[in-house]
Amino acid sequence: MAALSTTDSAPLTLREVELRAKENLPSHIYEFYASGSDDEEALRRNVEAFGRLCIRPRVLVDVSRVDTSTELFGWKTALPIGIAPSAMQKLAGGDGELDVVKAAAGMCINMTLSSQSTTSLEDVQRARESVTAETQVQAPPLWMQLYLYEDMQKSTQLIRRAEKSSYEALVLTVDTPVLGNRLAERKTAVVLPPGMSLPNTTASSPQSSSPNLLPSVNRLLMNARTAADAQALRQASGSVMHSSSMTWAKSLAFLRRVTKMRIILKGIMTGEDAALAVQHGADAIIVSNHGGRQLSSTCATIEALPEIVAAVQGRIPIILDGGVRTGADVFKALALGADFICVGRPALWGLAYDGQKGVEAVIHILERELSRTMTLAGVSRIKDISRDRLGIVARDT
Ligand code: FNR
Repeated sequence: MAALSTTDSAPLTLREVELRAKENLPSHIYEFYASGSDDEEALRRNVEAFGRLCIRPRVLVDVSRVDTSTELFGWKTALPIGIAPSAMQKLAGGDGELDVVKAAAGMCINMTLSSQSTTSLEDVQRARESVTAETQVQAPPLWMQLYLYEDMQKSTQLIRRAEKSSYEALVLTVDTPVLGNRLAERKTAVVLPPGMSLPNTTASSPQSSSPNLLPSVNRLLMNARTAADAQALRQASGSVMHSSSMTWAKSLAFLRRVTKMRIILKGIMTGEDAALAVQHGADAIIVSNHGGRQLSSTCATIEALPEIVAAVQGRIPIILDGGVRTGADVFKALALGADFICVGRPALWGLAYDGQKGVEAVIHILERELSRTMTLAGVSRIKDISRDRLGIVARDT
C-alpha cells in the first residue's frame, strides 16, 4: 500500500495551511500577502511575542463541557474570533472576498471587509444574506473598513453605501498616514489582472471603476525619492489616498456627524491613544500594527495589550489582531484582557489553499485548538480566561 503523503491529508495547523497556500500562489502574490515593512521586525515580533507567554494550567476542575462562545455588542458568537480586513483577496484565487464572507457567514463568524477589496461591498453583503437565508443561522455582523480620504465627500459616499447595505460598524484604520515601507511591493508591483478592480474605492459607484489605480499609486508613493515627491504624488493622485492630516477631533467628529453606525478604531498601539479613543467616543478599538506592514520598529500587539487594557478600564471592547496563529494564542490574548481576536493572513492562506473550504478549515483549526487549550488549562468558559492563567518565559534564555 502506498504511503499517504502529507500533502494528501488535510492541514492540521495554520502553518500547514500557509505552506499549501504558498504552493498554490505565484511567488510575488505570496510575498505581497506574507511580507511586512522594512526589515519585518514588527511582523516577526507579533508572532514571537506569543511564544514568550506560557499558560499556567489548573487541574482537577470539571472541563467536561467547554464553551468557546462569547458576546460582542450584544451579538452572540460561537467563537471570540473574526476575520480582519485585507486588501485584494481575489488575488488569492477563487472568488476572493465572496469565498471569505460565505465561510464567515456559514460559521457565524464576524468579517470586516477591506475598503480595498476586489469585490464590491454590496456583493459581499448579498453573499452573506444568501448564506444565512439558506442555513437559517443568525447573520454574523459584517463590518466595513475604511480610511478617511482627503476628499471627505468620497468617504461619505462609501459610508452611505455601507449603511445602505446593512453593515453594522465602520472600522476606521488609523495607522496609515502614509504607507509602510514594504520592500516586496516596491520591488515587484502587484497589478490587478484585467477584470479585477477595487470597486469600493476607485469609483463612486460599483458599476464604474478604474482597475489598477490604487496598487500602482501605492507603489509609486513607496518609491518616491523624497517626502516632497510623495506629497506631490498624493495630491496628483486625487482622493483615493488616505489623509495624513487627520486628527482625533476631525476624524471622530466627522464620522459622528455623517453616520449612526458603530465606530471602531483600528491601529491603536498605546495606552494614551486608547484613552483618547474612549474620550472621543469610539465604540471599540482594535489593537493592531497592521500585521507588521506599517511602522516596523513597533512592539508586538500582544506586548502593547496590557497598557491598553489598563487605559481602557473595561469601558469599550478591545479587539486584537497580529500574529495570532494558534488557538493557544487566542487564549493568551483573552487572558491579557482582549475581548475579541481577529486573524488577517490565516484567512488569506485558507483562501489560497482551498477557497471557501480553506477559510472554513482555518476557523475549524482555531476552534479545535482553542477548545483543547481551554480544556487542558482547566477553563470551561471564555470569561474565566483570566490574567493569572499566564506566565512569562524569561526573554534572555
Ligand atoms: C492587511 N491589513 C489591512 N488592514 C486594513 O485596515 N485595511 C486593509 O486593506 C488591509 N490590507 C491588508 C492586506 C494584507 C495582504 C495583509 C496581510 C494585511 C491588516 C490586517 O487587517 C490585520 O491588521 C493584520 O493582517 C493582522 O495580522 P496577521 O493576522 O496577518 O498577523
